[in-house]
Amino acid sequence: MTPKFHSLKIKNIRKETSTCVSISFEIPNELKEDFRFQSGQYLTLRSTINKEDVRRSYSLCSAPSDNEWRVAIKQVEKGIFSTYAVNELQEGQFLDVMNPMGNFKLVTDVKHAKSYVLFAAGSGVTPIFSILKSILREEPNSHVTMFYGNQGFAEVIFREELENLKNEYLNRLCLIHLFSRENLGNAIQKGRIDEQKCLDLHKAFLSNERIDDVFICGPEQMILDVKAAMLTKGVSEKSIHFELFHSGLKKTTQTAPSKESDISTKVTVILDDDSIEFPLDSNGMTILDAAYKAGSDVPYACKGGVCCTCKAKVLKGTVRMDLNYALTPEEVEAGYILTCQAHPTSEEVLVSFDD
Ligand SMILES: Cc1cc2nc3c(=O)[nH]c(=O)nc-3n(C[C@H](O)[C@H](O)[C@H](O)COP(=O)(O)OP(=O)(O)OC[C@H]3O[C@@H](n4cnc5c(N)ncnc54)[C@H](O)[C@@H]3O)c2cc1C
Ligand code: FES
Repeated sequence: MTPKFHSLKIKNIRKETSTCVSISFEIPNELKEDFRFQSGQYLTLRSTINKEDVRRSYSLCSAPSDNEWRVAIKQVEKGIFSTYAVNELQEGQFLDVMNPMGNFKLVTDVKHAKSYVLFAAGSGVTPIFSILKSILREEPNSHVTMFYGNQGFAEVIFREELENLKNEYLNRLCLIHLFSRENLGNAIQKGRIDEQKCLDLHKAFLSNERIDDVFICGPEQMILDVKAAMLTKGVSEKSIHFELFHSGLKKTTQTAPSKESDISTKVTVILDDDSIEFPLDSNGMTILDAAYKAGSDVPYACKGGVCCTCKAKVLKGTVRMDLNYALTPEEVEAGYILTCQAHPTSEEVLVSFDD
């Protein structure tokens, strides 16, 4: 199914912290099927801000069992969409919302008796909160240890709900807050979640535990550090799942084109059963940008290789990608690409958003 924007009414807006709001949407019955999601997935929102089309992805913090579609948006300094969302959006207003997407997702099974470890920092708690609720409600024999880093108490998103879950699932949830700027009275809960802290947390809370799955969401460096520590502690790479909201790495195309000689390609893009054709240099703009310029309403959000809104399949020819933080190795193997990162490397390329 090609992802599409739908105009949805904002049902409720809740102030979560001084810099974060959560927003729920009314999903009409005829769209309920299209908006089915798994914990961990995200919605892409679109608005015109200062006459510009601005699209950003936001993870669902509600679980499917909540029967609610709610995202939480934390204001980023000088951030265009997050500032608009926190300060301007109103209940009853309509917003363009794309159907749920993403590979960072939990598959629950009532028969599982797993030991999960969740790491979240700041707004990274949004998909983790959804994942946590689904595990606790849908896998009665699974156990969760969750580490949640913030500057201090005031920044903790979903504080009350997390406390309620802790009380409700006393024997199955171990929740450990970490603060970088406040003291909780012990050294282990003080500081940022970096590699050493993660090893210390493992020693203090997990040394006697089998770890089945790790879910991580937070800043890029935290994800890399937690992953390294978990690998050191013997967790297999395929059991470590992470979602990156933003990467500090910039695209290299403009400054460092591919070393291969430039070729001119005939690119054909299929979207909604329509096809469009255009010439493109192998060291020029991306397939997404070129398709957009040629008049195709191609789906995209981050343009940074971190979501997978621009995913499409190569049906003919070859391409290279600058970055890929979003596709699984299986998807790449099957021919899927992030078109916002893709450049043609053969004389003819056929790409489909419909497959
Ligand atoms: C799959 C996915 C899920 C996401 N889920 C959430 C979510 O649940 N809640 C949420 O609040 N955000 C989430 N994000 C991030 C969100 O999409 C935006 O990137 C973020 O809100 C900033 O957008 P902006 O327009 O306000 O900032 P921009 O105007 O795009 O950027 C302003 C400045 O902030 C920097 N910046 C952008 N994003 C971040 C960031 N996340 N952290 C630090 N610096 C940044 C930019 O480099 C730039 O310098 C998610 C992103 C992805 C890809
Ligand atoms: S638009 Fe996000 S990866 Fe391409």
